[in-house]
Amino acid sequence: MKVNLNQAEFVRSAAKPADFPRDTLPQVVFAGRSNVGKSSVINRLLNRKNFARVGSAPGKTTHINYFLIDKQLYLVDLPGYGYAKVSMAERARWAKLIEGWFADTSLMTLGVLIVDARHKPTADDKVMSDFFLTTDKPYVVVANKLDKLKKSEIVPNLQRVRDTLELPDHVPVIPFSAEKGEGKQELLELIFNHMEG
Ligand code: GTP
Ligand code: MG
Repeated sequence: MKVNLNQAEFVRSAAKPADFPRDTLPQVVFAGRSNVGKSSVINRLLNRKNFARVGSAPGKTTHINYFLIDKQLYLVDLPGYGYAKVSMAERARWAKLIEGWFADTSLMTLGVLIVDARHKPTADDKVMSDFFLTTDKPYVVVANKLDKLKKSEIVPNLQRVRDTLELPDHVPVIPFSAEKGEGKQELLELIFNHMEG
């Protein structure tokens, strides 16, 4: 199946489960801490600069954004978690929205967790990773901001991601730089390979 990545459209921002698209198109979902680069990774995959909005106000992406690619698959941008300045009420709203989303993962074809390659994954990252693992759907971790690492840090930091998240061997960790483009082909191939669900 050939997908034209230049045919990307923003479909909708969902604030509650009733707004989630429920056609049978495959859905690739991106999760990660606020500011880790979810929107930037999506922009990089689509060769766009400012398509999925990039971080002017961290923690403000409070909706689930759906992007439709070539009328064949959705890229789903979940709101980021872990932003310190968010109120308790906002946090609760976030949790409810995400739980609503994970309550029905039948349409999810691939889960993508984006973590910061510089840092040890947080407790929140582990919770999100475990969410994906319990879905039994294909799942991949993207270690973003690789361009900020020294060469000598790459291998140990990727191993630390794997160890901290206690990933099973079959879950790939893809070194990625939304800034420089590294890892883009590998992630695209995974996405295309999982489009049949
Ligand atoms: P929220 O929508 O608030 O959850 O954030 P987000 O995860 O979508 O992050 P976003 O894509 O907005 O990126 C946050 C900041 O990190 C921006 O300033 C980006 O330019 C920067 N950034 C993202 N990816 C990379 C990368 O691979 N390398 C570098 N150096 N900076 C990056
Ligand atoms: Mg974003």
